[in-house]
Amino acid sequence: MATGILIICSFTVNAQNSASAKMDNFINSLMKKMTLDEKIGQLNLVTPGGAVTGSVVSKDVDTKIRNGQVGGLFGITGPDKIRRAQEIAVKNSRLHIPLIFGLDVIHGHRTIFPIPLGLSASWDTALIRRSARIAANEATADGLNWVYSPMVDIARDPRWGRIAEGSGEDAFLGSQIAKAMVEGYQENDLSKDTTVMACVKHYALYGAAEAGRDYNTVDMSKLRMYNEYFAPYKAAVDAGVGSVMSSFNTVDGIPASANKFLLTDVLRKQWGFQGLVVSDYTSISEMINHGLGNLQAVSAKALNAGMDMDMVSEGFLTTLKKSLQQGKVTLDKINEACRRVLEAKYKLGLFEDPYRYCNEEREKTELMSDANLQSAREIAARSFVLLKNDNQVLPLKKSGTIALIGPLADNKRNMLGTWSVSGDPQKSITIMQGIKNVAGENVNILYAKGANISDDTAFIKRVNVFGTEIDIDPKSPEELLNEAVETAGKADVVVAVLGEAADMTGESSSMSNIGLQPGQEKLLKALVKTGKPVVLVLMNGRPMTLSWEDEHVSAILDTWFGGTEAGNAVADVLFGNYNPSGKLTASFPRNVGQIPIYYNHLNTGRPYHPGDSPKFKSNYLDVPNTPLYPFGYGLSYTTFSYSDISLSNNVLKPGGKITASVNVTNTGTRKGKETVQLYTRQMVGSIARPVKELKGFQQITLEPGETKKVTFPISVDDLKFYNSDLKYVYEPGDFKIFIGTSSADVKEADFKLE
Ligand code: BGC
Repeated sequence: MATGILIICSFTVNAQNSASAKMDNFINSLMKKMTLDEKIGQLNLVTPGGAVTGSVVSKDVDTKIRNGQVGGLFGITGPDKIRRAQEIAVKNSRLHIPLIFGLDVIHGHRTIFPIPLGLSASWDTALIRRSARIAANEATADGLNWVYSPMVDIARDPRWGRIAEGSGEDAFLGSQIAKAMVEGYQENDLSKDTTVMACVKHYALYGAAEAGRDYNTVDMSKLRMYNEYFAPYKAAVDAGVGSVMSSFNTVDGIPASANKFLLTDVLRKQWGFQGLVVSDYTSISEMINHGLGNLQAVSAKALNAGMDMDMVSEGFLTTLKKSLQQGKVTLDKINEACRRVLEAKYKLGLFEDPYRYCNEEREKTELMSDANLQSAREIAARSFVLLKNDNQVLPLKKSGTIALIGPLADNKRNMLGTWSVSGDPQKSITIMQGIKNVAGENVNILYAKGANISDDTAFIKRVNVFGTEIDIDPKSPEELLNEAVETAGKADVVVAVLGEAADMTGESSSMSNIGLQPGQEKLLKALVKTGKPVVLVLMNGRPMTLSWEDEHVSAILDTWFGGTEAGNAVADVLFGNYNPSGKLTASFPRNVGQIPIYYNHLNTGRPYHPGDSPKFKSNYLDVPNTPLYPFGYGLSYTTFSYSDISLSNNVLKPGGKITASVNVTNTGTRKGKETVQLYTRQMVGSIARPVKELKGFQQITLEPGETKKVTFPISVDDLKFYNSDLKYVYEPGDFKIFIGTSSADVKEADFKLE
């Protein structure tokens, strides 16, 4: 048996070696034919339009492709268009080298899933992998072979609009999700017609921008990088991600796009990454603004640091030759970068068949198929988080009168959320439509808009860059409000759909105030004043400040931006066809002054515990230390109780394993899904260690009254961290283990690591 496995293993290794030798031969012989200009041309990534996120767009794209001055194109879709662009390269450029075609496929392609922050709230890696798989199927049916996802930047600051694009504040959960997404996109085999090359971004630490302002400075200790921010990028690399995108920010004074420590020392040498590194959109030329020199200087710095491909700056295209002549870069470096671009194309099978992703039949049958839409509905429902539910106002009865109120209640334009460049908002299901689809004939639905998303014209202009997401109703705010209050008066229950417009989060969408806009807040207060039970259905791309809401409304369901099928999914949850099971992956602060706020912080020398005398303890005079809703929190229509933790042994020996178990019981009256979370704390260490760190989670579904035992194995590997010498170690001593329903509601036990 063992010999059999050995033979199979060595057969696989041999096959891999021979495949890579074949690739090397092919690329060696191609590169021998290439001129210096053609090699540099491969490093140039251009966009003829699409979602333009900078002030620059590439010019004369066709001519450049003909001249061998383009390695890849992003921002176009459709097998016919992509075929035409590919034909220029393959038929008209001297060496007929095919192009690679990329796009921001972030949370679905045509069928849009919840924004990544919402997806992460499902805590279901198989589900997230499925969303990436469907996205890859659709993207490849639409001509693409490269997606700029997963975005894995850890974010602890909800002012930062791009918190919407990632998996929240925790590196352990973020790593599991990064892996699942890479697997979903690539399926471990780029040569298939249905897989795409993934691109993990934004390397590195982009989510730690000072003051939550986009593109801003990042400065942190190496300890923090290694222990709190790097893991998800590394997990994507370990999962075989084909490419990495550098970030816009500086790290330790050096922009990530020319940061040798990040791009070479950590990424290539420590993590063994062998794929392609691409810059972010003009992040090379932006280093002029960072004060690192002119275009030639910053381009040379980027290449020398380990950058392979230049997105839109054209700094490589226009200056590398001169830099080579002046001895500022080496031919080896150019060759290395060119080889990596060619390898990506080879692995994608583009040299065999440059048109392999241009299949019009697949385009017709696979985009937004019924099956994909069905998955989108299911996945969306799984992303919603029930934040409050007094007196079981939810689920709603399928009878009586509902007042559906709010500027987002019947609003196709904002259902998809940020970075849904290929999604068609007109094909999305609004909450009004969803409720009509699900409620049945016995429910009477009354509607009033109640308020504009915002009334601030300067703000609206800023948000509306991609189209009218916020419009000002012809009726005055007073008229809208009165109408809503009158409508509410006729109903048994009010469902208020409030929150953000799609592009109030995402790139360049930082906010200093993360509560409801004033007009919406006024509306909500007026609705509460009617005395009717008010259910707040929130649409949002970031944790918001909801202290007043939490105190006054009956129920809050956070639905993020749920995607194409969001309306149906919201209705499924509101009426109890699906019992909500999402849990937060980013803390919701009580106010902006608490930011950054995250569960896995260090202790202070003067920790404050509720009940302590607060003076000279670490706290605020005006607000508690705790968030309004903690990491891992989310309610269900049923309730769960946890037994005490039982440990198989309270001594863990290196090389050994102990298990920690709890019994979880469904103590309510409905079937429900619970995410059981495992945290640990190292009580004494060579450096200060976090008060809690997520180390595992499991999902169980329980019938009313049912109990299941949930067991987590723990080994020393789970307890390792980077010490002051940046060595990945474990340290013997006392540990605490916590198991519970959120980071703030746990059972605990103690063990010793020998
Ligand atoms: C964003 C990236 C994106 C790129 C290409 C940039 O502005 O930061 O996330 O992949 O544009 O569209």
